[in-house]
Amino acid sequence: MIKTVDNGPLQVKGPIRLVDHDGTSYELGPERTRLLCRCGMSATKPFCDGAHARNGFSATERST
Ligand code: FES
Repeated sequence: MIKTVDNGPLQVKGPIRLVDHDGTSYELGPERTRLLCRCGMSATKPFCDGAHARNGFSATERST
């Protein structure tokens, strides 16, 4: 499951395998949750580090 968080990250709930651009793989087991940066300001991409809140990131779009 991938869920958008208003003014924040993408909440991902496993099981999934996330592979970054270098080929590094992150396994996320069943019922485990990770937050993926959506604002581009995280120092720990692809994961959210809370920078969106400190920098006033705004995103509340809804799918249509
Ligand atoms: S969405 Fe949280 S740091 Fe980017």
